[in-house]
Amino acid sequence: MSDIAVVTGASGGIGAAVAKMIHAKSEGQLRVCIHYNGNKAAADKVASEIPDSFAVQSDLSTAEGRKILLNAALSEGTPFCLVNNAGVDRPHEPALMVTEEAYVKILDTNLKAPLFLMRDFAKEMARGESGVIVNISSVLARKAVVGSAIYRASKAALEALTAQFAAELGPKGVRVVAVAPGFIETSMTAAIAEEQRAGIKKDVALGAFGGPDAVAETVWHAIENQYLTGAVLAVDGGMGL
Ligand SMILES: NC(=O)c1ccc[n+]([C@@H]2O[C@H](COP(=O)([O-])OP(=O)(O)OC[C@H]3O[C@@H](n4cnc5c(N)ncnc54)[C@H](OP(=O)(O)O)[C@@H]3O)[C@@H](O)[C@H]2O)c1
Repeated sequence: MSDIAVVTGASGGIGAAVAKMIHAKSEGQLRVCIHYNGNKAAADKVASEIPDSFAVQSDLSTAEGRKILLNAALSEGTPFCLVNNAGVDRPHEPALMVTEEAYVKILDTNLKAPLFLMRDFAKEMARGESGVIVNISSVLARKAVVGSAIYRASKAALEALTAQFAAELGPKGVRVVAVAPGFIETSMTAAIAEEQRAGIKKDVALGAFGGPDAVAETVWHAIENQYLTGAVLAVDGGMGL
């Protein structure tokens, strides 16, 4: 049975880049699980570009969806790596307009899903005293952008969980790291109007949005560096310094 690297939301921009990076950098030693939810066409395209990968569909905001992913990974091999990348940032609601519906949607996907996936995958990794979990956070965990209250809270809490799990799992041979991207060119940011883009770029020291590969390289660093755990690695072009 081979070692498996699960990438959630690998049908999206960052997840697809991470899945390809893991395959390339591990020289095929890690077998990549391409997880997706609604976008089968995008997942199939990513899977077709990664030899020996396999795709799994599930809604991670539900316990059933998380179980489907865990069981699929276990049936293919031994989970060595989990990248909790799937996430949503919508609806964008100003602070005085936040709704309970948005709270449930964003928190269930961005916080509840990675929490319980970490619990269940880490149990498997701890059995072999070897594994690494990478949680995709955001620069917005530390920065106010209008409309991001619930999203910000979800990512700040994910960073807290990263530190907590790292502390408890380190002695069991499992590392947990967060990667916090700035604004990255994917479908999540594609709808940002040109005027707003210009305003955001003024706040980025390097003056531009990043590409998904910049995030994927940082995720690979987190996977590879054996002395790294509990940290939040920013890959944000120096946003908001
Ligand atoms: N782009 C940025 O500027 C940026 C900045 C900081 C952090 N991030 C974080 O990076 C991660 C990836 O974002 P992205 O930019 O690549 O966005 P994206 O292109 O919109 O991809 C989002 C991915 O999450 C999956 N997903 C959403 N809800 C799901 C659910 N309920 N169950 C399972 N999968 C679900 C989507 O699956 P389907 O499409 O198949 O439904 C898709 O694969 C997110 O956690 C995001 O918060 C992004």
